Amino acid sequence: MAEHPQRSFHINKILLISLVIVIVVLGFSLVILAIGNAGTRSTVGKVDALANSQDECVTCHRKESPGIVSQYGHSSMASADVKCVDCHEVTANYPGSVSHEGTYVLQSPTVVKCQKCHEQEVAQFLKSRHAIPAYVAYAGSEGLSPSQSKEYQSIPEGAFDPQKARNAIFALEGPEITRFACVACHEIGKPAEDGSTGQCQKCHLRHEFSLEQSRRAETCNNCHIGPDHPQWEIYFESAHGIAYSTMSEAWNWDTDPGTLTVKDFSAPTCSICHISGFGRTPTSHDVGDRLTWYLAAQISTRRPGWESNISRMQNICLECHNEVFIKDFYQAADKETEAINALVQEADSIIQPLKDKNLLTKAPFDEPIDFVYFENWHHYGRTAKFGAWMQGADYTQWHGAYEMLKDLAELRSLVGQKINVSNP
Ligand code: HEC
Ligand code: HEC
Ligand code: HEC
Ligand code: HEC
Ligand code: HEC
Ligand code: HEC
Ligand code: HEC
Ligand code: HEC
Repeated sequence: MAEHPQRSFHINKILLISLVIVIVVLGFSLVILAIGNAGTRSTVGKVDALANSQDECVTCHRKESPGIVSQYGHSSMASADVKCVDCHEVTANYPGSVSHEGTYVLQSPTVVKCQKCHEQEVAQFLKSRHAIPAYVAYAGSEGLSPSQSKEYQSIPEGAFDPQKARNAIFALEGPEITRFACVACHEIGKPAEDGSTGQCQKCHLRHEFSLEQSRRAETCNNCHIGPDHPQWEIYFESAHGIAYSTMSEAWNWDTDPGTLTVKDFSAPTCSICHISGFGRTPTSHDVGDRLTWYLAAQISTRRPGWESNISRMQNICLECHNEVFIKDFYQAADKETEAINALVQEADSIIQPLKDKNLLTKAPFDEPIDFVYFENWHHYGRTAKFGAWMQGADYTQWHGAYEMLKDLAELRSLVGQKINVSNP
């Protein structure tokens, strides 16, 4: 039986209209969803606090360097009426001052400026290895002023010097290279011309000084990366890092400091475990405050005050995990750290005969065996420890312990060759 042409046209029309309505409704919900999501991004929708500013630094710099003014305008410090001059203006005779538009400014404001308003953050920072020790790591302690030496010695875990020949590579490469290498990372603790220490802007990028940015793992990735301290790589393969990569769109990145809880973040970033106030634990800019081992050291030992540090770190874990889980984890990671210490010590006993027979050259890093010995603890040993403590199994295994075994075999062979050559 043939279908009535008129009727099938009518049905098609109804279908078409319904389809159009469905598409329109879907489209609307997508737009509403997008607007909702945009609201959770910290930078979108924030007002430009400097939009109507008549401040002369602002009006001229809006023409000369609009990027700086726009970034600063969207910061919470600009909303709180902190002005360009609060960070930049100094007196004529201030160290490093440059004459500028009828006044004097610093090109690079120092912590002395931040300290006026952020005394506590500066005091904590100065008690950490991010301060003077980071600088001493490449420059040595010889050039420190008496007050800087005092500052250095007042850091409980500061004077620890795990690598006595620390300047050897720095010296071998020379300043043309190291300016872009060691210095670029370690200047987080470099003294400024006015004698103050450190660079807050390494984690609080100018001129937004955004909380979200400092809380994101990418900020630490500027330095905590690579074969000798792959914390960034390890974090990204850990369960915590996976949560960060897959779910952090919904986290409350701009929650006021000191009020962060599991309601804001379902898993930790670097900053939650090492810096942020979280739940019952207050914020600290002293990144050593929650650590128990010197993991970066050749042979890891306990830190001074580790018994109280451990409770601060574990209180962070306990916001999300139960006590037995965390106690077990710590016990196992302590044992792993000691097992890696043993593998590092094995390298020492392997090369001991060369030391006894005076078969190693005095100069550092001038023969292959120096590099094999160094990488065993400096790259692989550290990596194996960091991998365990921050849950990167691949780093503990294939970039860590396995490389150590391979390295020890190579060391034995190199030692054998040297002894044979000297004793044909
Ligand atoms: C009339 C325009 C004008 C005014 C007003 C002005 N600046 Fe500038 N500023 C400039 C220009 C142009 C430069 C770039 C100079 C250069 O490249 O040598 C500059 C550079 C700077 C620098 C970098 C310094 C350097 O030597 O590299 C700082 C910091 C600065 N200004 C801060 C301020 C502050 C703070 C104020 C308010 C007290 C201010 N400026 C007022 C035009 C201005
Ligand atoms: C909270 C402190 C603070 C405030 C407020 C501030 N700055 Fe800066 N400014 C800095 C820091 C820190 C640097 C970076 C120094 C470095 O990395 O060497 C800097 C660098 C600069 C530079 C030179 C570097 C460049 O990127 O060209 C200029 C120019 C400058 N600021 C202008 C301004 C102007 C204009 C304002 C106001 C709209 C302002 N700053 C407000 C802290 C501040
Ligand atoms: C004149 C006082 C003053 C100076 C100088 C100053 N700050 Fe601030 N800063 C403030 C105030 C006020 C706030 C709080 C804004 C708020 O809570 O909304 C703040 C907030 C911040 C925040 C948190 C931003 C946020 O979104 O909550 C950071 C990070 C910060 N300052 C870093 C610095 C650094 C780094 C320096 C030095 C280069 C500096 N400040 C210099 C007054 C100052
Ligand atoms: C990519 C950034 C980066 C570069 C480049 C870099 N370091 Fe480091 N360095 C670090 C970080 C991050 C640590 C801390 C590792 C830890 O605690 O797990 C560190 C640790 C150290 C330590 C051990 C801690 C101490 O204070 O004794 C020394 C020594 C050191 N670095 C010296 C150097 C020298 C010398 C160079 C150049 C030849 C250099 N570093 C290049 C980031 C860097
Ligand atoms: C190693 C990275 C790092 C360095 C260096 C650093 N900060 Fe922070 N800072 C952070 C992080 C992460 C937060 C966010 C803490 C949180 O989640 O509550 C923060 C927060 C802040 C805040 C907001 C209030 C608070 O205490 O939470 C201020 C103000 C601040 N920093 C000032 C400074 C000053 C001043 C310096 C330099 C002495 C500095 N910071 C150096 C990482 C850093
Ligand atoms: C500009 C480079 C730089 C950035 C950015 C940076 N760090 Fe560091 N960090 C270092 C250096 C260098 C050291 C080693 C200092 C030393 O012992 O000589 C270090 C050491 C540490 C330590 C070990 C401290 C100790 O007592 O042994 C921790 C923990 C740490 N950083 C956490 C962080 C976190 C979390 C972030 C991001 C919020 C961060 N760092 C950002 C350079 C940096
Ligand atoms: C789940 C919490 C957690 C997260 C997330 C985390 N860490 Fe750690 N981190 C630890 C613990 C625990 C230790 C070992 C503590 C100890 O010694 O007791 C550690 C050790 C370190 C050390 C070694 C310090 C030394 O003794 O040499 C550095 C540096 C560090 N973390 C940086 C980072 C960076 C950078 C990130 C992000 C890329 C990060 N951490 C993410 C918990 C965390
Ligand atoms: C903000 C919440 C939060 C904090 C704080 C936190 N974790 Fe976790 N942790 C998680 C989540 C979520 C997972 C993933 C759970 C799963 O595997 O289903 C996890 C997983 C783990 C795992 C299992 C890894 C795996 O591969 O199965 C370990 C171990 C762990 N965390 C240790 C720690 C330690 C140690 C601390 C403190 C230094 C800590 N966590 C802090 C949320 C947190």
